[in-house]
Amino acid sequence: MCGIIGVTGRSDAVECILGGLKRLEYRGYDSAGVVTADANDLDVVKRAGKLENLVRALDDNPLASQVGIGHTRWATHGEPNDRNAHPHTDPSGRVAVVHNGILENYQELKASLGDVRFASDTDSEVAAHLAARELERMDEPDLLLAVRRVVAQLRGAYSICFVAVDDPDTIVVAKHEAPLIVAHADGVGYCASDVAALIDHTRDVAALLDGQIARITPDGVDVMDVDGTPVEPHRFHVDWDLDAAEKQGYDHFMLKEIHEQPQAVADTLLDRLNAPPDGGPARLHLDEMRIDEHELARIDKVFILACGTSLHAGMIGKLAIEHWAGIPVDVEVASEFRYRDPIVDPHTLVIAISQSGETIDTIAAASHGRDQRAPVIALCNVVGSTLAREADGVLYTHAGPEIAVASTKAFTTQIVGCLLIGLYLAQVRGRMYASETEDILTRLQQIPAAIEQTLLLDGEVRELAERYQDTNYTMFIGRHAGLPIAMEGALKLKEISYLHAEAFPAGEMKHGPIALIEPGSLVVALAPAGHVFGKMVSNIQEVRARGASVLAIGTDGSTADLKEHAHHVLTLPEPPNELAGSVLSVIPLQLFSYHIATLRGEDVDQPRNLAKTVTVE
Ligand code: AGP
Repeated sequence: MCGIIGVTGRSDAVECILGGLKRLEYRGYDSAGVVTADANDLDVVKRAGKLENLVRALDDNPLASQVGIGHTRWATHGEPNDRNAHPHTDPSGRVAVVHNGILENYQELKASLGDVRFASDTDSEVAAHLAARELERMDEPDLLLAVRRVVAQLRGAYSICFVAVDDPDTIVVAKHEAPLIVAHADGVGYCASDVAALIDHTRDVAALLDGQIARITPDGVDVMDVDGTPVEPHRFHVDWDLDAAEKQGYDHFMLKEIHEQPQAVADTLLDRLNAPPDGGPARLHLDEMRIDEHELARIDKVFILACGTSLHAGMIGKLAIEHWAGIPVDVEVASEFRYRDPIVDPHTLVIAISQSGETIDTIAAASHGRDQRAPVIALCNVVGSTLAREADGVLYTHAGPEIAVASTKAFTTQIVGCLLIGLYLAQVRGRMYASETEDILTRLQQIPAAIEQTLLLDGEVRELAERYQDTNYTMFIGRHAGLPIAMEGALKLKEISYLHAEAFPAGEMKHGPIALIEPGSLVVALAPAGHVFGKMVSNIQEVRARGASVLAIGTDGSTADLKEHAHHVLTLPEPPNELAGSVLSVIPLQLFSYHIATLRGEDVDQPRNLAKTVTVE
């Protein structure tokens, strides 16, 4: 995720900013930049790649000022290169901006500026242009007022910071659905996306709430709403050490990432409908779809290729595409696909799913498909990654950097991505009315709140983990969308707790696996509400009759049967639809493996023998 630090009132502002950016490195980024302000001009230095590149550029071109803002960028719109790195300025160099988040209506806003040249491919740059236009219109230019007017036009998620030559001591910031901290200490004003950047300077900080704007000067920080009415931010004292600050108070990155899922899913769903200029019905769009819609409409077969967790998301993708778009789909382990002779032709679509976009097996499998002239769509979390670059179309999962080896937020956003691809293929094939697509998308917007509610199960899950932490073998069973979740639950447990765990289609139990059940075995049964619920209840009875302890995952309103047969039931909120429910069902399983692993004293974030990105075969 991008990082921000702004400073006003220090003679060593640039060093302070670089120190802050260093503290934010753990969040992951692909470029970095800094702007300083004085009454004559703004100076911007930015570089793709690691912070060292920026430091070297600043050695060649030192900046000195008491005011500046620094940024580390995790690309969402536009390749990770020098041009797209933040800060961005308007063409006259009057205003500079850094931004975390996604401006949903940036294309509309760009169009409102008329024939203006943009220097980057980002959504963020438009905010600098808009602020400069507001300043131009004022007899007495006032950056705060200009920003209030700009913010009133923005839609989407943002923590955004502005400086301008008109008001060079001042940084103006605004927040909506992306974190922003402000502080004032010893005659210096600060802002940052994360307390880790400020911890060396002050521990008394204030978190802006959604809709709040702050003017930061060496004299203090004024917080207001968009109308200029003074409001109170959330003030707090930071007593965490630096390690905890980087994890924002969580004990591990994995836990932090589990809790970031509401935001990650919301960001993945953001800005997906385009209203055409001719006023026709809104259409779903993918980020970088370079495949002609007519070509996609002629697709008669899909291969979804991925590894590990991404493969499990792909299994939900199969259900979505077959259900909505009516195209047959095979889901295959990428490392197997590339070594056989799959029947692929130009009417076959390959969908390659990878969080990192650098998994060699997935990249090679996708090119095996492309060599046979199949178009390739990448579902990826890292903008500009190899897979995304080589694919013909890309849908980004906007989950932000995932640091823990065990994938959590990447998985749930991949599921959402798969649902979007299913709807998109249905759209291009004319299998759905535009109003239906819009209706499903609108209902999917309920998922982030439902995840929040599901996370409240944490206490109950921890108690179960305490009870079952020494269970040597756990069997996960599920049907339909519950099967990939059962497989993901087993993978999570293996990965970080090193306990044996396996997943089976519940209907296969009687064909062999049920022989493994003996008194004391633990069976985790995925039994959310849906068309296979009754079958799952029967499967639960079968394993219970053979002595297993059963933990069932069910849905609010349909757990009566489960409570009768399972020893423990975790109740999920009702999802917007059956497939989207899989995003909720996996969350207690992520928490379960997390707690078991920590109770067993394992290194949750860096489990043995595993790497975050597998770039070798
Ligand atoms: C998930 O917890 C794993 N660490 C692993 O299975 C991962 O999903 C797999 O290696 C694929 O990675 P990718 O999504 O970056 O391609």
